[in-house]
Amino acid sequence: MLIVQISDIHCGPMFNKGIFRNAIKEVNAMSPEAVVITGDLTENGIQSEFKQVAKELEQLRAEQVIYVSGNHDYRATGYLLFKQLFPFNQITEIGNTVIIVLSSARPDRDDGEVGNRQNLWLENTLKKYKNHTKIVAIHHHIVPVPDTGADQITIIDAGDVLRSLTKSRTDLVLCGHRHRPWKWQIEKMQVVHAGSISCEKLRGFFCNSYNVIEIEHERINAKLKIVGGGYVDFKELVKRREILQASDISQSKLMTQEP
Ligand SMILES: [Fe+2]
Ligand SMILES: [Fe+2]
Repeated sequence: MLIVQISDIHCGPMFNKGIFRNAIKEVNAMSPEAVVITGDLTENGIQSEFKQVAKELEQLRAEQVIYVSGNHDYRATGYLLFKQLFPFNQITEIGNTVIIVLSSARPDRDDGEVGNRQNLWLENTLKKYKNHTKIVAIHHHIVPVPDTGADQITIIDAGDVLRSLTKSRTDLVLCGHRHRPWKWQIEKMQVVHAGSISCEKLRGFFCNSYNVIEIEHERINAKLKIVGGGYVDFKELVKRREILQASDISQSKLMTQEP
């Protein structure tokens, strides 16, 4: 099974339309079972940006498209527009895999919060799907990400959420928000952070990218895909301390060709 995570589209002043359209063509060619869009579809949460991103996303072909809202989408009462344009599927079952969405964006706030009620719901839902491969998607990061500057604020209740996720043996968490691809392993849980697919604002890793996740016999293999370029193994990516440019990557052994 193939799941693609795209994130932080940021339709608005820093949106690169050419890169986005290339990425969508690449994703369509993979025929993924699901595409998870982990938030910040717009820059300012305004109507023109929502209309533009909805139009661009019409080109996306996938059996399931799962939308997660981001802090930028919730600016200027954008949460009302988000609700109108994008369906909210909090639980998606595909075969023996379940994808659960957590809402962490709050109106006109950049920090994120899951909240006690949603966290209890999460624990109960994960219990119900205990025999499934369990994926949780959330916009904000639940653990800090390197190279993202002084703003290291995770969701304000990160400790509680992490406990619920690990206790319930979540297999994979997909986060966006920081525009810096990264992967942490906490106990048996992989926490995969996406870069931005089409925003010019990047941090520490200066290529637009998205994540490709293969699930086979409950084994999860997450890889980073550079838009217009090759695949990068997260294991190799996290070993490197220095800032990466596209030219560094194409000359290094980080790049792999297979999906
Ligand atoms: Fe973002
Ligand atoms: Fe964000």
